[in-house]
Amino acid sequence: MRHFNAPELLRTYFRRSFMLTLCIAALLAVSLPLLRHAQAIAEYKHDSLEIANKFLARELNFDVSEMLTRKNEPLIQRINVFMEYSNLVEFRIWNRSATLVYSFTTPQLIGQTFQDDHELMETMGTGQPSTEIGAADKLENQVLRGHGTLLEMYVPVFSSGRIVGAVELYRKVPPLNIASTQNLVYALAALLLPLLLHVFFYGQFKLASLKLVHSGVQLQQAYTSLAKTSLDSIRSMVKALETRDSVTQEHSEQVVALAVLLGRQLRLSPEDMARLVIGAYLHDVGKIGVPDSILLKHGPLTTEERRIMETHVTKGREIVQEVEFLCLGVDVVQYHHERWDGTGYAQGLAGEAIPVTARIFALVDVFDALMSKRPYKEAFSFKESRDIIRQGSGSHFDPKVAEAFLALGERELIELRSEVQRQGIHNLVREATSAIFDTPIGSSILGSCRLKDL
Ligand SMILES: [Fe+2]
Repeated sequence: MRHFNAPELLRTYFRRSFMLTLCIAALLAVSLPLLRHAQAIAEYKHDSLEIANKFLARELNFDVSEMLTRKNEPLIQRINVFMEYSNLVEFRIWNRSATLVYSFTTPQLIGQTFQDDHELMETMGTGQPSTEIGAADKLENQVLRGHGTLLEMYVPVFSSGRIVGAVELYRKVPPLNIASTQNLVYALAALLLPLLLHVFFYGQFKLASLKLVHSGVQLQQAYTSLAKTSLDSIRSMVKALETRDSVTQEHSEQVVALAVLLGRQLRLSPEDMARLVIGAYLHDVGKIGVPDSILLKHGPLTTEERRIMETHVTKGREIVQEVEFLCLGVDVVQYHHERWDGTGYAQGLAGEAIPVTARIFALVDVFDALMSKRPYKEAFSFKESRDIIRQGSGSHFDPKVAEAFLALGERELIELRSEVQRQGIHNLVREATSAIFDTPIGSSILGSCRLKDL
């Protein structure tokens, strides 16, 4: 019996989710320290600009061009103190014409104009400061190269609301070590957090899957019980019908048992075997619509009576085709009087156009009738019955079905008949219909009642 396989479900979930967790953890472990590093740089730039802006607002609130014509020693001293205090390595002041008016490290350039300095012109043009971290690689910055990586800032200078110049500052960048202890802690946390979440969700999934399996088992049990009840109902219904026709009592159990035997000989699929068994039980259910005067008549039937008797296949189809479970037998019910050569009824189908279950049952039905005593005939012997079946191969019966039947031994068939009379066919049917009883929920077998277009 197929059930939800909890261990397999858990293994699949664990394997897939663990790989995903590892990927997420690795991604976080790499990206979190990088983000932290980027944030530290951004904070450093922001703090540096704030310090510079405060100093400039307080000290450089005049037209800085004046510094070309007169020394301002107190201001220069305050700049020196500011530089030392703020870890600056260079302090340059530019006037609005991009002429250098003060430089701490390169005073020899004072008075020169640098209008091709892109950052300087942009800062004075937009009034917005700009920052950049890198090596001081401009020609005029040769003296700064020994300081390594620096924060370069251009800050506009305002006087009476006008831009009167800009200040160019270079500040030492403290080591921002990506492999710092703090970053390693972040990386470790980034690794552990997804793994802990994985453990938590795995536990939850395990609980949920166990509940699901339990529900699945209960549902399967309910389904099996329902199928068993349906089969028992069919048996009861057929028994009730047989009490009406005393000559065919026990016919249904005999043909069911024989059908199972022949179905096995022909290696029918489990689904077709189930259809054959249900159909064998129900094959003559349509006779409920045939009047007693015809059904129980001892003498030969008239043409009209025969026509009415033959309607039992279509009446049977109408009874079973709309009912779940019963409809599995619809092919046998509808086509069990068709003949291989196309001379049967009710559709006149021929050859493999007749469903295989109906071809098998047609032979079984005839064989059982031959072997049984009727008011109008004695029972034929096994040999006589077998000869009649052989003669009908290729005309009445499917040759392959007939061949499989003829391969069965007399002892086997006789024993089967006596066993059915002695013990019934409960176990045989239970085994043969395992495709229905053991079909997992959601299987299509019950929804697959098929009937050829009429
Ligand atoms: Fe029939």
